[in-house]
Amino acid sequence: MAATVLVAGGLGYIGSHTSVELIKKDFNVIVADNLSNSEFFILERIEQITGVKPIFFNVDLTDKIKTAEIFSQHPVDVVIHFAAYKSVSESVKEPLKYFHNNLSSLINIIECMKDAKVSKLIFSSSATVYGQPEKLPVTESTPFQKALSAYGSTKQMGEEILEKLTAAGIINAVSLRYFNPVGAHGSALMGELPIGIPNNLFPYVMQTGAGGLEQLTVYGNDYDTPDGSCLRDYIHVVDLAKAHVMACDRLFQQKNETSCEVFNIGTGKPTSVLEIIKVFERCTGVKLNYKIGDRREGDAAVVYADITKANKVLGWKAELELDEMIKSSWKWELSVRQS
Ligand code: WQD
Repeated sequence: MAATVLVAGGLGYIGSHTSVELIKKDFNVIVADNLSNSEFFILERIEQITGVKPIFFNVDLTDKIKTAEIFSQHPVDVVIHFAAYKSVSESVKEPLKYFHNNLSSLINIIECMKDAKVSKLIFSSSATVYGQPEKLPVTESTPFQKALSAYGSTKQMGEEILEKLTAAGIINAVSLRYFNPVGAHGSALMGELPIGIPNNLFPYVMQTGAGGLEQLTVYGNDYDTPDGSCLRDYIHVVDLAKAHVMACDRLFQQKNETSCEVFNIGTGKPTSVLEIIKVFERCTGVKLNYKIGDRREGDAAVVYADITKANKVLGWKAELELDEMIKSSWKWELSVRQS
């Protein structure tokens, strides 16, 4: 009997790519999304790619009554919780919005799971929990630094909530700590849809290259790195989606070794901002208009993952390289501009 997965935030960037990969592996997918940071047309795109249109609930997870209705209408085996706000800079300006949305949606969905006797949860965590790590690459036991933003706090607190709830036997959880998700589906039917001016590097590069933005500012080239610009661990969103499928299977088949597991999901390869620009220009043939500016408040100089545990225990390894991350993002950017 195929497992049914409730993908909360399933029309969002990572949620939609995960829904596609789950359907490809014959999971039944139910999508819940309040469309606050996603577009309804993505549901049709999921169908266009897979031939399957997931059951859809337009639900805000901070509304417990509406969230509970999902569980009363459909048997759910595993829940993946993507439905959180994720802008670091916005969370600094509006911390209460982030604490309310990200924490109450997590607590609500777990209370609904408990009432519906659903015990398997995958939590969307982030490398942000590490702050600026002292030792690199970061492993899952690298201690958390004090979160630099409310967004980072909600991910640290989310993991702490799971630690206590799993210890109390209420749920079994797998937290996936994403490094830098980038790229788009190879069909160019899905990808990142940032609202307004993007904060993140990849969408900013793509929109600058396509003429939607004037110029990219490289936030500092005076860091203690080979070319002076920051190093990050960029991971293709399709590889990241596949990690969620592996985690679903792990929980559904009860292969998890403890009730609360955590995995770094990255490539283990650090890449600098200036290297990203070079690869963009090589892959697209477009000369990128950029300048070197001041450092951005709160940026860590270097963050990249030790992915031994994900490779050995989860049985997952990133396959897509930087060229494909750039090319798929570029193809998506051009397709969004044509539609
Ligand atoms: C990457 C590098 C910038 C924009 C964030 C979140 C993290 C995760 C991924 C959710 C940095 C530089 C950027 C620009 C630049 N999201 N940059 N000019 O900050 O590593 O991580 O997104 O989980 O939680 O913190 O990603 O893409 O913003 O920055 O020079 O216009 O690009 O300084 O070195 P970041 P980013």
